[in-house]
Order: sequence, then structure tokens, then C-alpha cells
Amino acid sequence: MLTDRERQRIEAEVRLYPHPRAAVPEALKIVQDHRGWVPDEAVREIAELLGLSPATVDSTATFYNMILREPTGRHVIFICDNVSCWVTGYHAIRDHLCERLGVALGETTEDKRFTLLPAACLGECDRAPAMLIDGDVYGNLTPEMLNDILARYD
Ligand code: FES
Repeated sequence: MLTDRERQRIEAEVRLYPHPRAAVPEALKIVQDHRGWVPDEAVREIAELLGLSPATVDSTATFYNMILREPTGRHVIFICDNVSCWVTGYHAIRDHLCERLGVALGETTEDKRFTLLPAACLGECDRAPAMLIDGDVYGNLTPEMLNDILARYD
């Protein structure tokens, strides 16, 4: 069930748009801010609140790969696999992260500390390869930098 705070924030957001459908991405982000991910029940309630079908809200959630539809670890790593990152070292960064964390892309570490996910361009192409951990962007990555960066997240 949406909390009062989530509901208030979504209702405030809807007022900024000419059509409720345009508020769906922000509504999903609001729920994710509060819970870390967006469960099915929240999708249904956002739909009801905005007067849309659950399928419409769900398709928006599916379109945006940073909307998380399953529970995650305490920290979420998005590693960019788009063109600039792909040609400047993505594979070495991905392989190091997978090995260090003991997971494949899409998985969460056993201790629930990290979830490692692929991402489309993070808008940091001039600093490729890049990744995002929670709200922090890291660019010009090399495998040697990764252990120090991961150590910043408990
Ligand atoms: S391609 Fe990776 S940040 Fe743009």
C-alpha cells in the first residue's frame, strides 16, 4: 500500500503535468526513493491514483531500466554498457566487479551489500567507462580503482 507520504508526493507531482500519464516516471521514482524498489502492488496503486491501467504504469517501469522492480542489495551499481563505455574498457570493469563481488550482472551479493546491474548511457561518455553507485557517478574507471570505490559503501 502506498504510504501517506508517497501518495502526497505523487499527487503533488501530478499537478505539474497536463496529463497524469506524464507523471508516471516520477511516481515510480518516488516509490523507489522510499522503498529502494517498486513492487507490483505499488504499480497497481499508482495506476489507480493516476486513473491509468496497471499495464500502462508497468510498461513505463519496464522501459526505464533504472526503475527497479525487484528487491536489491543495500547499494545498487549501474554499469554503463553503451557505446563509449563499451569501447573504452567496459569489459574489464564488468569482469572485475563480477569477480570481486561474486555475482553476474543482474545479481545481488550474498550479504545483500550490492546489486550489479547494466545501464544505458549515464551521460558521462566523456569520462567513459562509467558507473553509478546509488547517486554517485564514477568515470574514467580502471579495474585498479574499483576496490577503493567499493570500500566506500558498507
Ligand atoms: S556510453 Fe557510457 S556513459 Fe555514455
